[in-house]
Order: sequence, then C-alpha cells, then structure tokens
Amino acid sequence: MSFPAGFFITGTDTEVGKTLVSGAFILKIRAQGGKAVGFKPVVAGTYKDAKGVVVNEDLETLRIASHLNPGQMELCPYVLNMPAAPHLVAAAIGQEMEMEMEMEMEMEMEMEMEMEMEMDRIMQCTSQNTDSKRCCSGRRGPGVFNSAKQDSGLG
Ligand SMILES: Nc1ncnc2c1ncn2[C@@H]1O[C@H](COP(=O)(O)OP(=O)(O)OP(=O)(O)O)[C@@H](O)[C@H]1O
Ligand SMILES: [Mg+2]
Repeated sequence: MSFPAGFFITGTDTEVGKTLVSGAFILKIRAQGGKAVGFKPVVAGTYKDAKGVVVNEDLETLRIASHLNPGQMELCPYVLNMPAAPHLVAAAIGQEMEMEMEMEMEMEMEMEMEMEMEMDRIMQCTSQNTDSKRCCSGRRGPGVFNSAKQDSGLG
C-alpha cells in the first residue's frame, strides 16, 4: 500500500505566501495525478459567504485547491472568528487548543485519503481487468477492499 505523504509548509510572518504556496502545491500534485488535501491546524478570521455560511479565506483556498465541495471534509479543527493572531484570539475567548486534537483530525484525513487511494487502485485494476489480488495491497482491515473485490467479480 502506498501511504499518503505529508508536507508541512510554513513561513515566518503573515502575508508571506504560505496559503498561496500551499494551494499551488496541492494543485500541482493533483495535476500530476496525485491526491492532495490541504489542512491547517488553526485559523483566525471568518466571514459569511454568499449563502451565509461562515468561512475562512485560507480554508476556502485550501478547499478549492483540494477539489472539495463546501463542508465535504473538515480541514481545520479550530476556526476562530476574530481576525488576529490565533493564540491571542484563543486566549481572549478562553479557547484551549490541543495538539492532540489537531493530530487526530489530521490522521483521520490521512486515513480517508489512504482509503481513497486504495479505492482508486482497485478501480484501476477492475478497469484493466487484472487480478485484484495482485493489485490490492496486503492490508485486509478496511471492508472496502473486500466489498470492492466482490463488486468487481474478480479473484
Ligand atoms: N494569485 C495571486 N497572485 C499574486 N499575489 C497573490 C495571489 N494570491 C495572493 N497573493 C498575495 O500573496 C501574499 C501572500 O498571501 P498568503 O495569503 O498566501 O499569505 P499567508 O502567508 O498565508 O498569510 P496569513 O499568515 O495571513 O495566512 C498576499 O499579499 C496576497 O495578497
Ligand atoms: Mg494563509
């Protein structure tokens, strides 16, 4: 099985291009046939979109670059409304931020991506009419492998 790789993009100071580069990076990976989804541990500053949904500019950039519909996937565990340094906003509103929570959501995303990638591999095998046993990796945990195998009528 191929596991998703993670890239950590950072930059000192605000408005230096972290989001712009992240979005471009995601688009480039996708253009090359890979799967990539953006994730940001905490954002501060929200507005209402045309439909009245509360959104954050950075998360919208990551979402659109990641080819996700609104609300399709949580890209950030801590969305703070006030537009200021996140740690100051969090302190002002008494919001505790736990690294564990961020890691947990990030891991959930990775698992989702991993499943999607495996599904893609299975679909590819099916369309190529090859032996799914050879194509699918050894991990038998997620039901998706078995059900897809049944659906395909292979193996
Ligand atoms: N398509 C674009 N072409 C040129 N400049 C752009 C484009 N999109 C954004 N910028 C500018 O690039 C700069 C970096 O923006 P970006 O939002 O990526 O910074 P950031 O490091 O993520 O900031 P923040 O810390 O506020 O999240 C900003 O000045 C922004 O106006
Ligand atoms: Mg940004």
